[in-house]
Amino acid sequence: MANVAVIGAQWGDEGKGKIVDWLAERADVVVRFQGGHNAGHTLVIGENVYKLSLLPSGIVRGTPSVIGNGVVLDPWALKAEVEKLTAQGVTITPDVLHIADNCALILPFHRDLDALREDASGAGKIGTTRRGIGPAYEDKVGRRAIRVCDLAHLDDLGPQLDRLCAHHDALRAGFGEPPVDRDALVAELREIADFVLSFAKPVWLMLNEARKRGDRILFEGAQGVLLDVDHGTYPFVTSSNTIAGTAAGGSGLGPSAVGFVLGIAKAYTTRVGSGPFPTELENDVGERLGVRGHEFGTVTGRKRRCGWFDAVLVRQAAAVSGVTGIALTKLDVLDGFETISICTGYLLHGQTLDHFPSNAADQAAVQPVYEEIEGWSQSTAGARSWAQLPAQAIKYIRRIEELIQCPVALVSTSPEREDTILVRDPFLD
Ligand code: GDP
Ligand code: IMO
Ligand code: MG
Repeated sequence: MANVAVIGAQWGDEGKGKIVDWLAERADVVVRFQGGHNAGHTLVIGENVYKLSLLPSGIVRGTPSVIGNGVVLDPWALKAEVEKLTAQGVTITPDVLHIADNCALILPFHRDLDALREDASGAGKIGTTRRGIGPAYEDKVGRRAIRVCDLAHLDDLGPQLDRLCAHHDALRAGFGEPPVDRDALVAELREIADFVLSFAKPVWLMLNEARKRGDRILFEGAQGVLLDVDHGTYPFVTSSNTIAGTAAGGSGLGPSAVGFVLGIAKAYTTRVGSGPFPTELENDVGERLGVRGHEFGTVTGRKRRCGWFDAVLVRQAAAVSGVTGIALTKLDVLDGFETISICTGYLLHGQTLDHFPSNAADQAAVQPVYEEIEGWSQSTAGARSWAQLPAQAIKYIRRIEELIQCPVALVSTSPEREDTILVRDPFLD
């Protein structure tokens, strides 16, 4: 019996939330291990739609849910999300939600800095979610961060705050902004501290005990491999490692705790924010994918850029993340296309390439090489078994498996929780 890590195999928004919610029925605990409230995971359960940014998707089913140490946590965003979901009827108590006491905090000036930098970058901007994710990770790695556990010792934060504020005051001065108001910051932290601390604990201990008991652990990744700070389209990436390897370090479990790595990939490709996108379709076909797939960001409402499935990128994402099997989502969005293209390689300055290069200029310059396959006119929407899929759709899936060198374990055919085809059970692998 394996633990399962769910990660995005493209540029995020692949449908991780839906798949985590579906798998959470059989999990004993769900763990977020990186990113923050830049994530937007949508769950559709009957008439109800739940949008989660910071909370693990297992919380909606009442599965014990953990925010691991690898996450950067905005206390006010946490409170707002807990209140929003509580109003939707989800029970969120310290029995269900557990937050690592060594999580680094996102503070108001991180959000300011994210926005100031983006506004100053003109055409070169990353297109971040402006939630302070990058600046908060910088302070964590720079050993300046305030962490969840520090909220219990606000009176002793003096020297730590001196270092942190000295750093930010210099940056803020560069943007013509006033220094951080330390008293106001401490007062705001004091107000929210008890709320956050009520969920805080050494979750590594709890997770290691769960592991010893043989509990099923489901790791929930945010973003996608192509947004990984090492393996993604740098610098147009997020500020964390989004690959499956982070599940161990970002939760306090060793690498052997991560069993089956389930990479989530859309049957086409989307991206929100700036950066290279070889198969992007800035035409009617791209529009049609966006409209059929409702491709608008959960977090920022921005229109997602759309294009054909890029088998080179997903093969690379699967390799660097050690993907065991793929969940192919949004197959139904391709219903009715006469022909469908798959990118099988690139041309760069007249040379063929079978992988995505590291250099940003080369990434922007590669031209996709396409293979065309006949589409299907029947609907796959809502299919729950292989037998309900048209032969041509199966052919498309089989061709993708061949090209990405990785088997398809699940297929998703609508936003709804149960509209999922199980090919190979990740927990039983
Ligand atoms: P995540 O960030 O990876 O969790 O993905 P998002 O929730 O941001 O975006 C995926 C969107 O597609 C959500 O609105 C889902 O409800 C929806 N979705 C997920 N799976 C499917 C599917 O198989 N078909 C369709 N049509 N929509 C899906
Ligand atoms: P989920 O978990 C899609 C993108 C932003 C931007 C870049 C850096 O829903 O798949 P950041 O705010 O992280 O510094 O922005 O990363 N980005 C996402 N794109 N889905 C996400 O999360 C994303 N989280 C960040 O658009 O290009
Ligand atoms: Mg999303």
